[in-house]
Amino acid sequence: MKTVKTILEVRNQVQAWKKEGYSIALVPTMGYLHEGHASLIKRAASENEKVVVSIFVNPIQFGPGEDLDSYPRDLDRDTILCENAGANLIFTPEVSEMYYVDALTTVSVNGLTNGLCGAKRPGHFDGVCTVVSKLFNIVLPDKAYFGEKDAQQLAVIKRMAHDLNFPIEIIGCPIVREEDGLAKSSRNNYLSSKERQAALILHKSLTKGKELLSAGEKSAKLLKQIIKNELESEVLAKIDYIEVVDALSLTTIDIVDKPILVAIAVYIGKTRLIDNFIWESK
Ligand code: PAJ
Repeated sequence: MKTVKTILEVRNQVQAWKKEGYSIALVPTMGYLHEGHASLIKRAASENEKVVVSIFVNPIQFGPGEDLDSYPRDLDRDTILCENAGANLIFTPEVSEMYYVDALTTVSVNGLTNGLCGAKRPGHFDGVCTVVSKLFNIVLPDKAYFGEKDAQQLAVIKRMAHDLNFPIEIIGCPIVREEDGLAKSSRNNYLSSKERQAALILHKSLTKGKELLSAGEKSAKLLKQIIKNELESEVLAKIDYIEVVDALSLTTIDIVDKPILVAIAVYIGKTRLIDNFIWESK
């Protein structure tokens, strides 16, 4: 496995692979990798001959006051994880390599970005779409892998790839969790041991919601209320949002009569965590 820092090196390597007829996968990440990322890389390696992992803490998807400067980084650890998971190339550019200082172009997806994290983090998805478009154009993969952990991001990227005719298949991969249910996240690293315990409330509250749906409940309002009550039972948790939306359009719904996405964002202390599940009514 090789690690490169320039766009030219990526292009040369991918071009050589394509000449050999190899299929190429891309797994975009911001590093500080864990088993969630590893699951994407493993899946990519099982479905493609060559896997490129990008590791780039993308400054333009962070808002003012967010955790850009404190975002955890550890390239040595990430390299071992990538290698073990079956990656062939790590692309880890500097900010100056990725962004021209005089760049004027941003990629925006409308509609799908109005609610959920899009409403709470203005500009975030423009930053994500812009960097992912650039990575698509730099790597030119056949397939790109994203986690369902970031459900809105996955929906937005799928739509962007469709709308802009990227000849790339976008593949969603299931959420990987700790044994106690907490969704794996690079940001879990910020939690103190007390907060780590408190963070279990995200998964617990969603499990309560699932139980309600299993029992046949169809009211989105009631579903939200049950999740809210559970989250409020944890003193260290501060709700950012609880949303029940159409799984495809991401618009809010009142009655659960089609596939829905139940998504939450919760501050545990200063750390903002997200979790979700998709529910298909029978
Ligand atoms: P990052 O948070 O590093 O996540 C990289 C990929 O790993 C995303 O597709 C995310 O959904 C997936 N992922 C993270 N935790 C996961 C888990 N517990 N289970 C399954 N998949 C998980 O998402 C980003 O980076 C950035 O926005 C990026 C797409 C790289 C653009 O900068």
